[in-house]
Amino acid sequence: MIQERSDSQTIPADFTILALETSCDETAAAVVRGGRTVLSNIVASQLDEHRRYGGVVPEVASRQHMLSLVPVVREALAVLPGGWNDVHAIAATSGPGLSGALLTGLNAAKAMAFQRGLPFVGVNHLEAHIYANWLDSSAQHAVGSGQAPLTFPLVALVVSGGHTLLALVRNHGDYQLLGQTRDDAVGEAFDKVARILGLGYPGGPAIQQAAEGVQGAGVLPRAWLRDSYDFSFSGLKTAVLHKVQERQELEAKVAPKRAANERERRPPPAAPPAAPQPPAAKAQASSVTPQFVGQMAYAFQESVVDVLVTKTVDAAQKFGANAILLAGGVAANTRLRAELARRATVPVRFPPISLCTDNAAMVAAAAFYRFDAGVQSGWELDVNPALKLG
Ligand code: KG4
Ligand code: ZN
Repeated sequence: MIQERSDSQTIPADFTILALETSCDETAAAVVRGGRTVLSNIVASQLDEHRRYGGVVPEVASRQHMLSLVPVVREALAVLPGGWNDVHAIAATSGPGLSGALLTGLNAAKAMAFQRGLPFVGVNHLEAHIYANWLDSSAQHAVGSGQAPLTFPLVALVVSGGHTLLALVRNHGDYQLLGQTRDDAVGEAFDKVARILGLGYPGGPAIQQAAEGVQGAGVLPRAWLRDSYDFSFSGLKTAVLHKVQERQELEAKVAPKRAANERERRPPPAAPPAAPQPPAAKAQASSVTPQFVGQMAYAFQESVVDVLVTKTVDAAQKFGANAILLAGGVAANTRLRAELARRATVPVRFPPISLCTDNAAMVAAAAFYRFDAGVQSGWELDVNPALKLG
């Protein structure tokens, strides 16, 4: 059922879109009906390919997309009894993202649309993240009266590995950028801090897990950038780095003394002589404890969440938003969700975790409203790695 039909709606309610998403390290295809019913949502993650490098390697990403695209599209279409005959239009992410990665999906989508004689539209990845909130399962994750149909204006907080922005959504496809990050994206900060703390990749879920149940952690600075809806996270990342270095220096000084005291208390047996210390033991002595890692993860997460929530709630009040939409990979963060829901004065909506991280269902949702407004892309549409919102 479509609840947010505009008067200008021109397409049928069962309009079925096949969408592709290849902007970064996820090869995704989805079939969505009526802009909100997800019939299939297939995501082939490349996480294992990139994990060993601690981040996404563009060349590796493009190659993996080439390998995964056809099987992923086949799987997504398998849900339709009539196969291609049940598809009314095709969409693909055209930017922002990695140019080689974007090219694989956009060109595949154009080729399929051309061959099948179907309408085609290119979609902004940031817009797609916001539109994940129009998919049926997102309404079920709403807080307050967020299950109600969305009415404009809305305030959207997009937080992902590559982007951090706050936008006023005045109508379908009508955005005003209120603020964005001046340095690192939030997800990037999570990933970098996780690396500093020796936690896994991707860093967001690892930090969230390490911070769970932590008590007695100190407070890290917050970059408020007063009178602005912009964000900054690189100073916070540096603050964590300095704290870890200080702690390591302290541990390095204390550990040999502690070991000497231990030896005095318990003199070693006369024979056999103690084996020489392997280098690994020295590295161990200078590393920080899991308790310290947990406290840093907690303090970092609290600092990030406080700034994001404060600015979002403020923007919603100032611009008279009817609801707040949370979007992007970092929207999976449970602490961010809970704190936003607690402090917001209007309903908050966020997608289920599977629709927060990169997927093609959100691309189809955004495409639906573009087709509905009579928008289509020409075959000349190229990727735009630096595409902006609005
Ligand atoms: O939207 P996304 O899948 O890809 C981009 O478009 O960037 O976002 C990925 C980012 C990664 O930086 C990852 O660490 C972060 O989302 N992320 C999280 C959580 N789950 C994923 N950050 C914080 N808490 C989480 N639970
Ligand atoms: Zn994304």
